[in-house]
Amino acid sequence: MPAARRNVELKALDPDPERSLATCRELGAEDRGVLRQRDTYFRARTGRLKLREEEPGGAVLIQYDRPDAAAARESRYRLARIEHPEELRASLDAALGTLVIVEKERHLFLWEGVRIHLDTVTGLGSFVELEGVAPPGSDLTPEREKVGRLQRALGIVEVLTDSYSDRLLGADALVAAAREARGRAHAPYSRFRVGAALRAEDGSIHAGANVENSAYPQGQCAEAAAIGVLVAAGRTKVLEAAVIADSPEVCVPCGGCRQRLREFMPLDGTIHLCSESGERRTATLEELLPMSYGPEFLPA
Ligand code: THU
Repeated sequence: MPAARRNVELKALDPDPERSLATCRELGAEDRGVLRQRDTYFRARTGRLKLREEEPGGAVLIQYDRPDAAAARESRYRLARIEHPEELRASLDAALGTLVIVEKERHLFLWEGVRIHLDTVTGLGSFVELEGVAPPGSDLTPEREKVGRLQRALGIVEVLTDSYSDRLLGADALVAAAREARGRAHAPYSRFRVGAALRAEDGSIHAGANVENSAYPQGQCAEAAAIGVLVAAGRTKVLEAAVIADSPEVCVPCGGCRQRLREFMPLDGTIHLCSESGERRTATLEELLPMSYGPEFLPA
């Protein structure tokens, strides 16, 4: 059996994809173009198993195991080229079940043996990934060093520990909570029911719905209601939010609610704007509320 391959990898949110693209070009990284990838994750008993279908490219089955640690980490994986991906997808789905499907557009660069991925993931937003592929026998020191240099050049401070598939499953749970809360909205005047859900730093989810009042100005938005639930549960930091209305259009938070979220959310926190038809746009708080005012402006 062939030995597992190894690489040193790192992932981060990309608040400014255009700047990252410019940095790759300034570094003289080789531009390998844009790939469309669809990864189907199956319910593996241990580790992860995904079928990657790539355009241009082909299909490959990837088995891997990865410790979740907040640093450039080592990953071991196995690859098998697949001639008939539809058939394999159907058999693995029947045998194991499908966990989640991750679709993305990947702009690939190569720099001194390190792969740079500028990824736009459907339903999640923009990310940058670095993968230093290790030749057999490497003690990984050169790969760590190169990944570290690129990390600094790209201005990456906060490294993510979860995978796109984990994030997508987490976002789905958040949207489901927002949708459920929306079903309990009190919106007899506008008939525009809204649900919002917030994920706190410890992973817990807090949801609320809009609550209108016959004295119209006394009404409250869903985001404000969710913030009340969050605070009452003893949480004050939100990393991710979802908003959904009874509308075929994606629901955008009103200006006042963007400021309300600003109190509890970092500027790179993500907000999923959802529609009833299943469309999802993901933005950072900073994109929704540029040049914003927050608690740090007040004297200590
Ligand atoms: N609404 C929200 O709950 N959140 C928003 O961000 C936009 C607006 C509610 C308020 C009101 O009950 C209804 O939508 C119509 O404006």
